[in-house]
Amino acid sequence: MNFSTEFLDEIRNRISVSQVVGRRVKLIKRGREFVGLSPFSNEKSPSFTVNDEKGFYHCFSTNEHGDIFTFLIKTQNLSFPEAVELLAEEAGLEMPRSDPRDVAVVVRAVKLREAVEAACMFFQAALQKPDGKRALDYLHGRGLGDEIIQKYRLGYAPSGNALKTELRRKGFTEDVLMEVRLISEGKEGRESFDFFRERVMFPILDLRGRPVAFGGRVLGDGEPKYLNSPETPLFHKGGLLYGLSLARSIINDKNQVIVCEGYMDVIALAQAGFNNAVAPLGTALTETQLEILWKLVPEPIMCFDGDKAGQRAAARSAGLALPRLVPGKSLQFALLPSGQDPDDVVRRSGADALTQILGSAVPLSEIIWRQLLADHQTDTPERRAGFERAVYERIGVVADQTVRDQYRNVFRDRLREMFQPQFRPGRYQGGSQKGRPGGWSGGRAGGLGARNPFRDQAQNSLMPVRVRHSRGLPAEKLQETILLATLINHPAILGHVEDRLGAMVLADSRLDSLRQSALMHLAHQPDLDSQTLKAHLAGLGYGNDLVSLLGEDTYVHAAFARPTAEPVKATEGWDNTFGWYQRSGLEAELNQLKETLATNPTEEIIAQINTIAEQLNQHTHE
Ligand code: UTP
Ligand code: MN
Repeated sequence: MNFSTEFLDEIRNRISVSQVVGRRVKLIKRGREFVGLSPFSNEKSPSFTVNDEKGFYHCFSTNEHGDIFTFLIKTQNLSFPEAVELLAEEAGLEMPRSDPRDVAVVVRAVKLREAVEAACMFFQAALQKPDGKRALDYLHGRGLGDEIIQKYRLGYAPSGNALKTELRRKGFTEDVLMEVRLISEGKEGRESFDFFRERVMFPILDLRGRPVAFGGRVLGDGEPKYLNSPETPLFHKGGLLYGLSLARSIINDKNQVIVCEGYMDVIALAQAGFNNAVAPLGTALTETQLEILWKLVPEPIMCFDGDKAGQRAAARSAGLALPRLVPGKSLQFALLPSGQDPDDVVRRSGADALTQILGSAVPLSEIIWRQLLADHQTDTPERRAGFERAVYERIGVVADQTVRDQYRNVFRDRLREMFQPQFRPGRYQGGSQKGRPGGWSGGRAGGLGARNPFRDQAQNSLMPVRVRHSRGLPAEKLQETILLATLINHPAILGHVEDRLGAMVLADSRLDSLRQSALMHLAHQPDLDSQTLKAHLAGLGYGNDLVSLLGEDTYVHAAFARPTAEPVKATEGWDNTFGWYQRSGLEAELNQLKETLATNPTEEIIAQINTIAEQLNQHTHE
């Protein structure tokens, strides 16, 4: 440990050399000095002197020379820190904790913090000035209210060297501003310049809520979309989570934390009432961040974009967590509709939609299983064996033995079910519930992740896919039953219906997880015939559900859903039913928006109403 010179001097000021030496050597005062027999040699006449004013001792026979610390080191065989500790105690000083290399560093750090804080206030003020109007409009346009803007201390970095000018005026030196990267070095001897210009500013707060860095978003389009402070003495991006200081108490209360990808997600979620969201800082989740999350709650919910990058991020965090699992700790994954981030979901589909998605988050084990499925084929004995081996290898990375054993048990059951479905054609009932592993493929596994998120499927949709959240009305339930039954009886229509069926969230969680399982099996083995698909599903414990789904109660409303119907009829019937289904959903949404408009008329709402009205119009003319 390095001690600051200030600290050591303070000890020296409080304890004289004669005081320390006098305990071992009989000292006689002579003028300004003390003399005595040297402890370093075996002498008869004194050649050892101590000078308290100068703070040292000197031995003329051995040339030993030093201060109170070296005296203890030399005569009592102590290490330097031990000597410091001993004397600090004697001096009545508290030992400095951690690593205060010296007070100078601390003083410097305070200065750096003050600079970042001053910058944060400057950006906040700039947002409210005429210059910042465009940025403020932008934030309002993204649905953020002034309260949230205040809470997250959002700001605007004006053009030119506005920040530098202001902070220099306030007395901050160039090198302080440089060290926290608020300014950049000018090239070829030119003047330094503001790092952030004409950007919406998102201050990054440390755990104690102090700004230490910034992310700056371009207004509208442009590159880079987000400019982030580089690492500085105050800012280590891998060890912080965006939004944590503000979310912490809510996270504790709710015992839940939502981890999303971006600044805007965290803020948009806060705006929508989800005050327990955080995000890594523009990088993949790090081990440190995972440890922080696990200290907060046992099962953080990962909520990444439904796009490819988001799914990669999900896969990466799954890979990060797997080896580090310990009993009780895991991750959950909320699977968002393709191409939407949490911000999009709450803005387009509302807070309820997100609540539903979060509620049907799937466990880490399911994500791992899906990754394995996506990477392997299982249609021959050899491929099955390869798959089986890969499964056990993957689980082998779990370091904790108890968790590893549980994974092994559950995946073994899963493999067994997959390869030996307990199903005899024509007799769905009886025995089919047997061997369903601990409920993990059932109830909780809902959400929008039915389309295997780790494998790209051909897109074949007839219109833009909106996520459709069922409200569970009887008519809706029947339509959902028909849509699902038709697919199970006619798996060949998968390519035609996949996107739309994938973007549905059924109110009945049991039915929804059946929807998911069916889509998952088909995504993995698109050539599956109906009988084999049913066998798989029955093997997963859906036997009874299939019986009620694939019966006269359904077929009387939709002959095209029957197994015997012609494929082209099945396709047509599916499209029509989906049209009705979508239409009633849009109408409900439209009514909702109109209500909102009455109390809170914004351009945003009007735009949404127009979009939906247009879509409804299209439906009518289809
Ligand atoms: P996204 O591209 O998903 O942006 O980046 P976003 O959060 O949805 O932002 P909006 O809605 O377009 O405004 C997610 C995160 O990745 C980092 C940022 O931390 C961002 O919040 N990122 C992204 C960068 O650091 N630089 C970039 O250029 C883009
Ligand atoms: Mn976004």
